[in-house]
This record gives sequence, C-alpha cells and structure tokens, in this order.
Amino acid sequence: MKDIRAVIFDLDGVLVFTDKYHYMAWKTIADKLGIPFDENDNNRLRGVSRAQSLDIILEKYTGKPLDSEEKKRLAEEKNEIYVKLLSQMTGDDVSRSVRRVLSDIRERGYKIAVGSSSRNARYILKMVELEDAFDAVSDGTNIVHSKPDPEVFLKGADMLNESPENCLVVEDAKAGILAGNAGGMYTAAIGDAVNCGKADYDMFSLSDLLYILR
Ligand code: BG6
Ligand code: MG
Repeated sequence: MKDIRAVIFDLDGVLVFTDKYHYMAWKTIADKLGIPFDENDNNRLRGVSRAQSLDIILEKYTGKPLDSEEKKRLAEEKNEIYVKLLSQMTGDDVSRSVRRVLSDIRERGYKIAVGSSSRNARYILKMVELEDAFDAVSDGTNIVHSKPDPEVFLKGADMLNESPENCLVVEDAKAGILAGNAGGMYTAAIGDAVNCGKADYDMFSLSDLLYILR
C-alpha cells in the first residue's frame, strides 16, 4: 500500500522557471559555435549535468574538435551567462500557488526536500526566498552521478531520514522521472516529463499534488 511520507522536488522547471535561463545561456554558446539548438533540443538537457548538457549540444557540432580544456571553458562561459540571469531573480519568481503547495504539504506533516542536479541550487533558493522552505537540499554539489542516476534523490531521502519507498519525486525531466523510478520512489511528472509516460502520476499543475497526497 502507498505510504508517502516525504516529497522531493526538482528545482529548475518545477518550482522556478530557470529552465528558460538555462536555454538562453546555452543558446548563446550554441550560436557562437554555429550549432543548431532550439527548445526541443533543450528538453534533452533537463535534469542532466552541465558537462553532459554540453556534450549533448556538441552532438551537432561540425567544427574542429574541442579538447577537454576548451569544453571546460565553454561550460564555464555558459554558467557565467546563466548566473547573471539568476542574479535578477527575486521572491516574485516563485508563484503564490507554488508557495501555498509547499506550505500545505508541510502542514499536513510531509517532509519536503529539493533534489536538483544543479550546482547553483542553493543560490537560486536564496534569490527566490525559498532557502528556509525545505527540510533538506540535495543538489549538484553532493553527487557524483547526475540524473537519470538516482543518487541525488537517494541522498535527499537519506537527509530526510526516510526510505525511498516512502518518497514521492516531483520532476519536469524524463531523466528525473527515470532517476526517481530507479531509486524505488513514487514519481509525479509535470511539464515536459509528462510526455515520457513513465511516472506514477502525471500532473497539469503543481497543485495536483494536494490530490495525490490526499
Ligand atoms: C538541472 C537542469 O536542474 O541542473 C539542467 O535541469 C542543468 O538543465 C543541471 O544542466 C545543472 O545545472 P547547473 O546550474 O549546475 O549548471
Ligand atoms: Mg527540472
């Protein structure tokens, strides 16, 4: 029988719409290298690490081969553009309905955590005034393997002191749904992740969680 006690939220594209900033920053790099890159290609980058994202973008690169130093520089350049965009974020970048869902879930006694592949997760949480909203934050700074590996969620469950089978993962990325499934957790898809058809629950909006957790 279903016994959900904790909810682990992905951050980019679930709680905040930083996915559009990832896209803008990668688009600048792709344009510079003459690589075709659109929002469809961007969906493949959801949930995967910065370095892996660059490798995916470079699949369509036809210029002279890049060595690991050049790739590192490109990833850094992307991150500089991205962080500049993040620096303009405020509390208004989290909708009132998202804040209400988080506080309702907590009031009902569920533990909540962030499970994000991003190394910028804590900075984002601070900028949007969500830094005290969670019982734990598992992010790109405490993992070796990025989604679809379940590591980030298993560490999150561990930080909450909960077993994976008592956790629900909320994700906008196919890689994130696969990670939650691989970790033995329940999964709820929103946005692009709904298209993969692999989640236990498909949601139209985050407030659907209030029915799933009834
Ligand atoms: C994930 C995003 O949350 O974080 C990915 O969905 C991104 O698109 C990954 O590549 C790593 O983010 P960052 O901020 O460490 O470059
Ligand atoms: Mg995401």
